[in-house]
Amino acid sequence: MPLVTTTEMFKKAYEGGYAIGAFNVNNMEIVQGITEACAEENAPVILQVSKGARAYANHNYLVKLVEAATICYPELPIALHLDHGPDFETCKSCIDGGFTSVMIDASSKPFEENIEITKKVVEYAHEHGVVVEAELGTLAGVEDDVKVSAEDSSYTHPEQVEEFVSRTGCDSLAIAIGTSHGAYKFKPGTKPQLRFDVLHECEKRIPGFPIVLHGSSSVPQEYVEMVNTYGGAMPGAIGVPEDQLREAARSAVCKINIDSDLRLAMTGTIRKFFAEHPDKFDPREYLKPARANIKELVRHKLIDVLGCNGKA
Ligand code: G3H
Ligand code: 13P
Ligand code: ZN
Repeated sequence: MPLVTTTEMFKKAYEGGYAIGAFNVNNMEIVQGITEACAEENAPVILQVSKGARAYANHNYLVKLVEAATICYPELPIALHLDHGPDFETCKSCIDGGFTSVMIDASSKPFEENIEITKKVVEYAHEHGVVVEAELGTLAGVEDDVKVSAEDSSYTHPEQVEEFVSRTGCDSLAIAIGTSHGAYKFKPGTKPQLRFDVLHECEKRIPGFPIVLHGSSSVPQEYVEMVNTYGGAMPGAIGVPEDQLREAARSAVCKINIDSDLRLAMTGTIRKFFAEHPDKFDPREYLKPARANIKELVRHKLIDVLGCNGKA
């Protein structure tokens, strides 16, 4: 089937008490690892592309790689989404260039300005059959070139969500409940805890509306250890506990974003391969186990975290 929007996926996910995985893609092996797992587990999927991914791999390469996946897996619902669209022009370029979903991230702007920019993107997107994710509240961590410190991040104010959604006409809303981007989400020695009270307050005010969680990697310690054992240095890398993500997936959260975990799996596997095979230099030989580990990690997320296996 051709690329789909997230409308149907989110409706079923909301009603079924599960979430769709949104995985960032930057190259062929990542697209293959994710979609092979989704096809085998019969799980609808969102493949998302950031501004940085477009700068690295080129818009056309990424669109064609994702379109290739729709040919390889004709039964699998796949949405192609712009992650953290920084402005109207970037969103327009993706809408015109084959994406079925875009995020406009004006969450760092004042409330009225966020509404104004989001509304403009929604109008253009909807005219072209594309859906829009917006964001209220800011997450800590790094995304593209923008670094937000923990002190500058803020939880979403539930009393703003209804007005924001109705005035912008957006199709889904990312909220801030204590997740953050990257591999260092919580300080070692502290207890990672998402703010479910904020989530539940938000969902009460916009019943039936799909909520999105960014920054939802769990930073598997087996891969942190693999990186550290084979020459890397990532001390104190800690993610969101998977049981909390599973709990979120049962609520109005319909989309959960995972990127750092795939990066860790790929990097850890490649580091290990080189340490064990210092004589090898064929990229296919080290990318093959990296792709296989991405696939198994995605399979685990689909079944044990998102609950979207068997839902395609
Ligand atoms: O939220 C950010 C995603 O992990 C994408 O990261 O901007 O380095 O491509 P990136
Ligand atoms: P992680 O860094 O936790 O993987 O978050 C990814 C993300 O939110 C992409 O938008
Ligand atoms: Zn994000």
